[in-house]
Amino acid sequence: MKRVLLIIGGGIAAYKCLDLIRRLRERGHHVRCVMTKATQEFVTPLSVGAISNEPVATDLFDLDAEREIGHIRMAREADLVVVAPATADLLARMAQGHANDLATAVLLATRATVLAAPAMNPAMWSHAATRRNVRQLETDGVKFIGPNTGEMAEAGEAGVGRMAEVAELVERIETLLAGDDETGRGLGFITVSSKRERAVAPLPLAGRHVLVTSGPTHEPIDPVRYIANRSSGKQGHAIAAAARRLGARVTLISGPVQIPDPEGVEVRHVETAREMLEAVEAALPADVAIFAAAVADWRVATPGRGKLKKAAGAAPPQLELVENPDILRTVAKRGARRPELVIGFAAETQTVVENAQGKRKSKGVDWIVANDVSEESGVFGGERNRVHLVTASGVEDWPDMSKDEVADVLLRRVSAYLAESRESV
Ligand code: C5P
Repeated sequence: MKRVLLIIGGGIAAYKCLDLIRRLRERGHHVRCVMTKATQEFVTPLSVGAISNEPVATDLFDLDAEREIGHIRMAREADLVVVAPATADLLARMAQGHANDLATAVLLATRATVLAAPAMNPAMWSHAATRRNVRQLETDGVKFIGPNTGEMAEAGEAGVGRMAEVAELVERIETLLAGDDETGRGLGFITVSSKRERAVAPLPLAGRHVLVTSGPTHEPIDPVRYIANRSSGKQGHAIAAAARRLGARVTLISGPVQIPDPEGVEVRHVETAREMLEAVEAALPADVAIFAAAVADWRVATPGRGKLKKAAGAAPPQLELVENPDILRTVAKRGARRPELVIGFAAETQTVVENAQGKRKSKGVDWIVANDVSEESGVFGGERNRVHLVTASGVEDWPDMSKDEVADVLLRRVSAYLAESRESV
């Protein structure tokens, strides 16, 4: 069991800490929380205390708490100190070495690694004073995660300043607790690790074309009936939206789904596997192709021209099935115009990772996102997903996340991969 001391800063993102505490506790970590005065405007010590199941420290001069534990002891006992959200004001006070409240006193007294998750308005984040403070804190050894790019709490505001997502925080915290942090690796967080990144950077996928397939296919039996599957398109559509948020030009080839087209994305609607292949080929070239569609393996060899009729006493029709083209394999094995990164999904009901590893090689794919779609998993049609990323260098088990979070983490990972391969050219 590791001890995480979570200093919750006074910003709108403070509410995310409730989920963060829950996730860390689920993973067996002990979480104690410190709240500043400002934090209590956003979340209450009562809810933080209930979720952490620990008393919450709120004031340097809380005599009972000082007698019982004391800020020095609290600082010393922690294996890791996390500051989330790290507001502009808190970063400034940290950089200056203030100790005028419990949060900053603990930060000054601790010998543990400190991880800060900044969250603020993009203008505040890019201000010279914040830049200076972050640089100073980095020099002092403070680790950073985020901020990410995206919508702000203020209506109509977008840019760099959103606090890292809870799933990213959990991953990074566990890496730091395990003592093998490699900043900027792992799940491909946008870390504040270089001067170049700290300037208000262009979106990481700007200038890139990302192609995504999503949803099921419908294979006609006759003009009114078809073979289909349970794919909802939620994961594929979330991936297209995440790629768009990171600045990519996105083409989404979607089978028949009940969900709206993502904004800012070019969508081609298709029915069958063969139409999907044709639309994919027409959309190439792309830098990245992500195949999240649940394409039917077979189609009816000769669909009825008219509705198949049931006749009294007659045997039911025999449907002859033929194999559909494998779109993913076709694109992954292309000589010319093969996207730099080809990613497939593997929906399995058993030996998920082993099957995905086999599929990665046999289909010539770079990465496979493997998930368990057995009935118990509730993935089909559901909002959450637990996936494994299978690459040439091994398997990563990602925590349980919403489909939007999986999409965000995957696309950030894609951005990091492309940036690295561009640098190595
Ligand atoms: O072999 P399997 O169908 O499990 O492979 C799943 C992966 O292959 C998914 O990424 C899916 O989108 C893709 N696929 C495809 N065309 C097919 C069958 C699967 O693109 N005909």
